[in-house]
Amino acid sequence: MARIFSGIQPTGHLHLGNYLGAIRNWVRLQQDFECLFCVVDMHAITLWQEPQALARATRETAAAVLAAGIDPHANILFVQSAVPGHAQLAWIFNCVARIGWLSRMTQFKEKAGKHRENASVGLYAYPNLMAADILLYKATHVPVGEDQKQHLELTRDIAQKFNNDFGVTVFPVVEPLILGPATRIMSLRDGTKKMSKSDASDFSRINLTDTADDIALKVRKAKTDPAPLPETPAQFDGRPEAANLISIYAALADQEVERVCARFGGRPFSDFKQELADAAVAVLAPITTEVNRLMADPAALDRILKDGAERARALAAPVLEEVYRAVGFLDA
Ligand code: TYM
Repeated sequence: MARIFSGIQPTGHLHLGNYLGAIRNWVRLQQDFECLFCVVDMHAITLWQEPQALARATRETAAAVLAAGIDPHANILFVQSAVPGHAQLAWIFNCVARIGWLSRMTQFKEKAGKHRENASVGLYAYPNLMAADILLYKATHVPVGEDQKQHLELTRDIAQKFNNDFGVTVFPVVEPLILGPATRIMSLRDGTKKMSKSDASDFSRINLTDTADDIALKVRKAKTDPAPLPETPAQFDGRPEAANLISIYAALADQEVERVCARFGGRPFSDFKQELADAAVAVLAPITTEVNRLMADPAALDRILKDGAERARALAAPVLEEVYRAVGFLDA
């Protein structure tokens, strides 16, 4: 039986990349699979987070996942730090993974930047915690955006090395699920950079909390090139902004990229941008309204998360026990 696990960091507001690259796929997968969705606050603190802002962002992220359509009764929605097994298994993986493996992680290089010596040890060991998140539940499938692919390859390496080192078959082979036309949404200001919560310019991203006016303005200001829209995806070469905006539209309207090119190809960006803004508002406005409604009752949100954490702990307990026996923390 396939089991899905995925996580999202509560750092600032969620954006269209998080929604189209991940959460929307979670909503579709929940119908066919047993799913766990986790707000990964322990990952968030690998970079400094102001404590009150972290607490708020944790609730807001959970609210966004619910508002997007995740059913917390049919699935498990919880906060990472409420289930100690993540930290316990991550420590064991710190001792399984090799320094050389982590040194190759491009996300660490990007996030640590030039000041590597000053980065937290947690930022470096981050992928081991991510492997622990997934393997603590023996999840088999992990829906993510393109940027997480390398971390999932590392998860497979860790699972395999653990099984080999201890002569067991505790962990399954994890498959990434990178689905849809928007697996890597780029910045609205620079089509070669990923849309990200950490970009200094708010005009680079559409947040799930933006108003219709914000969205229209950001789309109008989005960088383009002087040529008319491409008529086929083959003409995306050297036009990263056009490729990005068309992919976003395709994902929002649930259409093939080819179809969107056929419809808008040859037309000026101004026509297309209006339609793109309308499509984004149509998808996001109901989510924003629902996030605001859920945030007005934090106690109700906390109850959902507490219930999720209890169910997650129950699933994790036997796996952790199996791991402890394999390692020799408990008698075999
Ligand atoms: P995070 O919080 O950065 O992003 C959450 C999800 O959104 C996807 N995503 C994007 N997809 C398309 N275009 C973009 N511009 C874009 N930006 C973000 C991410 O791929 C991700 O699926 N390490 C993870 C969180 C995590 C996790 C896990 C995920 C922790 N443990 C276990 C899966 C399984 C992260 O930082 O995601």
